[in-house]
Order: sequence, then C-alpha cells, then structure tokens
Amino acid sequence: MRSILQCMDCGRQYPVDQVAYTCEACGGLLDVLHDMEMLKQTVSRATFDDRLGALQPPFNSGVWRYKELVNPDIDIDQIVSKPEGNTNLYRTPRLAEWVGLETFYLKHEGENPTGSFKDRGMTGGVTQAQLLGMDRVACASTGNTSASLAAYAAYAGLEGIVFFENKEIALGKLAQAIAYGATCIQVSADFDRNLELVRTISEELGIYVLNSVNPFRLEGQKTIIIEMIQQLGWQVPDWIVVPGGNLGNSSAFGKGLHELYELGLIDRMPRLAIIQAQGANPLYRAYKTGFEQYEAIHAETIASAIKIGNPVNYRKAVRTIQWTDGVVEEVSDQEIMDAKAMVDAQGIGCEPASACSVAGARKLVDMGIIQPHETVVGILTGHVLKDPDATINYHRNSLSNIEANYPNILHQAEPSIEEISRILAGEPVPTGG
Ligand code: F0G
Repeated sequence: MRSILQCMDCGRQYPVDQVAYTCEACGGLLDVLHDMEMLKQTVSRATFDDRLGALQPPFNSGVWRYKELVNPDIDIDQIVSKPEGNTNLYRTPRLAEWVGLETFYLKHEGENPTGSFKDRGMTGGVTQAQLLGMDRVACASTGNTSASLAAYAAYAGLEGIVFFENKEIALGKLAQAIAYGATCIQVSADFDRNLELVRTISEELGIYVLNSVNPFRLEGQKTIIIEMIQQLGWQVPDWIVVPGGNLGNSSAFGKGLHELYELGLIDRMPRLAIIQAQGANPLYRAYKTGFEQYEAIHAETIASAIKIGNPVNYRKAVRTIQWTDGVVEEVSDQEIMDAKAMVDAQGIGCEPASACSVAGARKLVDMGIIQPHETVVGILTGHVLKDPDATINYHRNSLSNIEANYPNILHQAEPSIEEISRILAGEPVPTGG
C-alpha cells in the first residue's frame, strides 16, 4: 500500500518522499492520495473503535488512531506525536437556545497540546519533515501555527522558524513560539505576504514549509471530523460549521468526508458551512459570484487568527463546498465577540476566530438556511487563553467599534465586608471603592 501526491487540477503525480507542495507543471495544490481499494478491505468502524482508550502511542493520539487514513505506510516509530486530539464534544443546551437550535455541539480543538487544532496537522507535517530528512521547518503564521510548529519542532529536535506580522499576533501565541525556542521573525508585512516570503526563502535555503499548503498538514487536520463523527457513534450531523482563514480545515474536512463516504464509514455527507470574518472574506465574496470570480483582499478583523486576504487553499475549499453542498457566510467583528462571550460564559471558552462557528450558525439559523431541528456541530479552533487582550478589552468595553453586549464587569472594592457584600447583592458601588 503506497500513498502518492496528486495535483488536484491536472492529476500529475509525485512520490510522497519528494519535497513538493504544489504541482511543478500547473501550480495546482497537491493531495495525498491513499489506496482506497486497499483501505476498503482493511478498515472499518470497528478498526477505530477498538483503539479507543489506548494508553500507548500511536493510538493514544486522536490523529494516529486513524493512521490508515492519515499516513498508512509510516512505521510507527517514526511518528512525532505529543499526542494530539481526543478533544471534547460538548453538548451545549443554553448556547443552542441562543443560536436557535435544538441540538448544538461544540468540538473543542483548543484542547489540543498547544491550544489549537494546528497540532493535528503539525504531527503529520513534522513527522513528514523527519522522514524527508529535513532539519529545519518554517511557517508564516497569524499565531497558532507558529505556536504549534515551535512546540513540535522542539519536541522532535528540529529547528523551527516562524514568521509573523510585527503587530496583531495575540499574546498567548507569541509567548508560546518564543518559549518553545523557535527562531521568531517579526516582519512588517501581513500574513499573506509573509507566506509568500516563507515559501520563497524555504525553497532557496532547503527548509521544509509547514503551512497548510503542505498536504501532510491537511491529512492530520481531517481527523477533527473523523473523531467527531466517531464520538457521535458514526452518525453524521446535518451541519458542520467551521471558521475559514487560510482554508486548511475546510479543505481537510472536505477530503476527509469524501474518503469516509467512499469507504462506507458514513452513509451520507453532512453539509459544511464555512464562516469568514466580514473584513477577511475573500471566499465569501467569491461564493457570492458562484465562484466565477476570486479576488484577494486586504484583511482586517479583530479575529487576528483569520486575518487573511488570500487563502492558499482557496481551490480546495471550493471543492469542499461542492462536495458537501456547503455554504459560505460572513460575520461581523461585533457578532464574533458577542458569540465568543456566550461560548466563554458556558465555561467552555474560545479565542475570537473560533467564535465564527457560533456566530455563523446563529446567522444561518436566522436566515432559515439551517433549520432549528437540524443537528449542528460547531468547531472551536483555539483556546480561550490564546488572546487575553481581546477578552479583557471586550469586557471592559474598550474595543473600538465593538459594544460589550454580554459584559462581565470587573469589580473594584476596598477590603470592606460591607462594600463587598453590596457588590454580591448587585448594588452599585462607586468605582475604585
Ligand atoms: N481559527 C484559528 C484559531 C486559527 O488559528 C486559524 C488559522 C483558523 C481558525 C483558520 O483556519 O486557516 O484552516 O481556515 N490560523 C493560521 C495560523 C492561519 O497561522 O495560525 P484555516
């Protein structure tokens, strides 16, 4: 059984042990293709159910539990895993009511080792880097990829190199990249330009690129939906709602669902809704033209993780929308921050970009596209601690152009029983005690 790389546009094939991200002939994005006929003979739901609760690598990882679908040929001793996945699927009745649904689940990918879904892709990518004998790995990042790359590179003993915009990166993410010892380079350019720089420099210097243009990243990321469907007893939800930035997840989900269906592990395709921030919405704009026109834009949003104007996986995301009868929607920064406050107030918590899933589901219910009785799973992509500034400034009502509609006010008090009792009784206390 051997997997191959194949161009999604012209079909040209490359061996998996070649360093390649896009097609040499036409520039198209590459897919990792597995031997589906062989997999039909060898995997079933039971293959993966039997591995639940495994304590030892590789099957204690929520990525490598599905090894046959991720990287069937690899020797298990070569896998670099922390281990990732095994994230919770929360049922959220109060949030469901706010969104307008009877059944709403949240799959919390912020519960991965470095606090975002990126770890699922990074275990695949760093493992591949080692197999290829690369000793340096690099990415451009809005923050989470850099945190994940830094951790996995350090764990594997490789040099990690991360590029990010010289402002915008959320504090938690910057702290992680520095702490894990990556070479961190702040560049006075946005994410889209940084990605171009990383790709060019890496090619010149022989560094392995671990942005989601790398097809092995997407093989790991597709396990988000495989694990989620397994958690639902292999029952497919009606909708999966996911934020869209560089569109790696959207692309990975489409491929994963297509494969699960082809292998008979699911009996129907769910519909996918990709949600973009209004100020970073090139996919939404293209969707509105029936994908006739695509234009890169200059991105601006409080959800810094998805402040991306020229998503590298655009073509694969379009394919996902076609495969899943999907939709693309946009939400404002106000809607994002209000949805985040609601997720946080359930005791679940997420970073701003993740809240697109919830704000988007609510909007799609409101528009009558998602029906209230349909089962919906929202993907939360990052942990609440990633962007403490956005959270605190929302509750202080100090964000420009955003109202704190669901504030949790930070009280100030003198060390006085009387004053604190008044706060607890909900009575007004003069600011500063
Ligand atoms: N949510 C979070 C928290 C993210 O960090 C990202 C992407 C996305 C959503 C969008 O996912 O790119 O697969 O559509 N962050 C990247 C980074 C770009 O550099 O950390 P996507």
